[in-house]
Amino acid sequence: MKNWKVWINGRLRDAGEAKVSVNDRGFLYGDGVFETMRSYAGTVFKIDRHLGRLFKSLKVLKIRPSYSKETIEKAVYRTLEANGLKNAYIRLTITRGGADPTAVIIVREFEGNPAAMYRSGITVKIANTRQNEYSPLTGIKSLNFLNHIIPKEKARIDGYDDAILLNTKGDIAEGSTSNVFTVKKNELITPSISCGILPGITRSVIIEIAGRMKIKVRERCISPKELLSGDEVFLTNSLVEVLPVTKIGAKRIAGGLPGEISKLLRISYQRQVIEETIWG
Ligand SMILES: Cc1ncc(COP(=O)(O)O)c(C=O)c1O
Repeated sequence: MKNWKVWINGRLRDAGEAKVSVNDRGFLYGDGVFETMRSYAGTVFKIDRHLGRLFKSLKVLKIRPSYSKETIEKAVYRTLEANGLKNAYIRLTITRGGADPTAVIIVREFEGNPAAMYRSGITVKIANTRQNEYSPLTGIKSLNFLNHIIPKEKARIDGYDDAILLNTKGDIAEGSTSNVFTVKKNELITPSISCGILPGITRSVIIEIAGRMKIKVRERCISPKELLSGDEVFLTNSLVEVLPVTKIGAKRIAGGLPGEISKLLRISYQRQVIEETIWG
């Protein structure tokens, strides 16, 4: 992109000038955290929750950031403005750095999600890779992401769109970059935090929406067998929002088409986004 601007350690720079040291511990060890957010019509959806999670994650790693939440929020908006973007993908990274922490904000035009993914749902494979619910990495959005990247790549090679990870007990944890929900007899079930998941911001919004719609929500562990027999399954994250799953391994879910509750929750999520961003 021409004149593309990146915010790095307090300054907006041309992307070609934005450099991180070879001694940065983020580069050397994946020693840092990140957030992925979306802006809609120039407003970042749930930026307060994303920054809250970021600062919690930094605390777990005992990284003391050089900037406050308020400064980072302003920097996100400055970066969007500098790049003339309203509907954007936003990636915020903070590492332990070398002497001081490194902070980077990258924004890109959000191209939109392929409509076909929502029309027919996606296929997923349950991965052999386990998410360790006892690890301090679980529950924070760490740069140490290979445990999620490897199963996703393997699922793609095997002909699936994505992977779902189990925890060490063999229960469902989360998607490679998402949280998992299933619908059974009109109840919404999603793995609880203790099952070894990242506490997704989209997950939290969906739980709230379901509550307002009087859909019963249960947060508890789910076995793979239970997931396979679900009436509906969907994944959530800030970019895909609510994404129906219509096949897990060889098993078709919801007759191979997105289920009604998944569709309803997707529309309700989008309505909330519009209310808080475009109309807010
Ligand atoms: C492993 C993992 N779980 C869950 C999520 C969903 O998080 P959020 O809804 O905050 O985007 C993500 C997002 O990228 C993720 O990488």
